[in-house]
Amino acid sequence: MKFKSQKVAYWFFASALVLLSLQIIYGFIMGFAHMGYDGWHAVTPFNTSRAVHTNLLVVWLLTGFFGATYFIIPEEADRELFSVKLAYIQLVTLMIVGVTAVVGFHFNWWEGRKILEIPRPLDFFVVANVLLFIFNIGMTVLKGKRFTTTGIVLFMGLFSAALLYLPGMIDFDNQTIDSYFRWWVVHLWVEGVWELIMGAILAYLLIKLTGVDREVIEKWLYVIVGLTFLSGILGTGHHYYYIGAPKYWLAIGGIFSAMEPLAFLAMALFGLFMYRRSERNHPNVIAMLWTIGSAVMSFVGAGFLGFAHTLPQVNLWTHGTLVTAMHGHLSFWGAYAMIVFAIMTYAMPLMTGRKLWNNRMGLYAFWLSNLGMVAMTGAFAVAGIAQVYLERRLGLDFLAVQKEIEPHFLGLILAATLFSVGITMYLINFYNFGLPKDEMVGKGDKLEAASGFSGE
Ligand code: HEM
Ligand code: HEM
Ligand SMILES: [Fe+2]
Repeated sequence: MKFKSQKVAYWFFASALVLLSLQIIYGFIMGFAHMGYDGWHAVTPFNTSRAVHTNLLVVWLLTGFFGATYFIIPEEADRELFSVKLAYIQLVTLMIVGVTAVVGFHFNWWEGRKILEIPRPLDFFVVANVLLFIFNIGMTVLKGKRFTTTGIVLFMGLFSAALLYLPGMIDFDNQTIDSYFRWWVVHLWVEGVWELIMGAILAYLLIKLTGVDREVIEKWLYVIVGLTFLSGILGTGHHYYYIGAPKYWLAIGGIFSAMEPLAFLAMALFGLFMYRRSERNHPNVIAMLWTIGSAVMSFVGAGFLGFAHTLPQVNLWTHGTLVTAMHGHLSFWGAYAMIVFAIMTYAMPLMTGRKLWNNRMGLYAFWLSNLGMVAMTGAFAVAGIAQVYLERRLGLDFLAVQKEIEPHFLGLILAATLFSVGITMYLINFYNFGLPKDEMVGKGDKLEAASGFSGE
């Protein structure tokens, strides 16, 4: 860690992990409900659990991105954060809004629009919170000593993500128009501007971990940004097939979304090539695993499994089934959860001075959580394909089909248990790092050099 203010990242990371743990609990409640054991129904019916599970996912990932940014931007801009106090205010208010939303969902205070369930009054607090963040980071960049491509792409990704929250806040009476604009938020986030955030964090980590020249790495970043926008913007059309939007979206959405995997493929190749080019072995082996892992798994979950149902001929049958959940889990995990784990794993030794970067607990955490998530994806795939066949091809009733596919959720629960063991090990490792220390300012290079590495 080069600057004292980077320490705030720790508290964002710790909060993100708490929210992730809560998200997992609601995942299990839904998994058991799918198996026919819906004992919690009176407290948290399926729709509530689902809203909590997915909104917590978005909030913890954003918290992770904020933490990552507070860690990365001071280094990229070569100065302390504009205001550490504002960063803490942002964290506390974000948590208050998040907890209020989750509690509200249990009392039916929600909007019923998948992933954007947060009620309108709370949306304004979200906007204020993110503006605070953008201001703090923007001032740091503006007053910085240098502008790097990585820093600018990260900032622009976050700034555009904030702007794209707004279309979801307009009131419409018409269901189709409402859905149309809901996708401007959901799709243009995960298949647009969040990819810039991911690409920038990936570039930063590759610069630090492989020692390859910044110029080479940042050239790749341009390619990723280009491919993302080329395919992702019109790719939104793959959500307009059957919601009442005009028919030409079938062709536009089909063609452009089919090109979206290219951006994720570029990310995977980027990671692998840079890894092979690295001249020195960075001692933080586990951070390298999460980094390359994220580049590769995002291609599998988003690129490959996204492509699997993006053509209108396929989506006609799979839309809104557990096939979507199959893709939703591995894409969010590979692209966004893993990149947050990567930056946390890289930053923790530098903030705390403890070298838990090649230990058994951390390695098992990586492998078990990933094996678990791949197995969960498999369980959703089996249940989803059975659902599509029985419900859409044979025309059985929705609930009759849900009964038929209950056994597949035993597989999901087992896989999710493996995943959760991995996450628990990560939490223990995180706890073992201890708190960030002021003495670590300017000592990061020494810590790494002591293990035979010379940095950027
Ligand atoms: C990291 C990137 C991605 C993430 C996190 C992600 C996540 C998701 C999620 C959560 C949904 C369900 C959304 C909802 O119904 O409200 C979804 C739907 C969908 N995704 Fe992705 N996705 C990503 C990338 C992609 C890519 C690259 C493609 C295509 C090549 C794709 C194709 C689709 C399609 C076709 C649907 C609609 C499924 C349906 O009709 O039910 N996704 N995605
Ligand atoms: C122990 C872990 C978990 C379990 C048991 C679990 C289970 C579930 C279940 C049962 C659903 C509802 C599917 C339906 O609509 O019928 C769901 C939805 C979802 N979960 Fe999880 N989950 C877990 C962890 C995660 C993690 C770590 C992520 C992200 C990285 C995630 C992302 C999602 C998403 C995006 C959806 C919405 C999918 C869609 O729109 O179709 N889950 N989860
Ligand atoms: Fe999409």
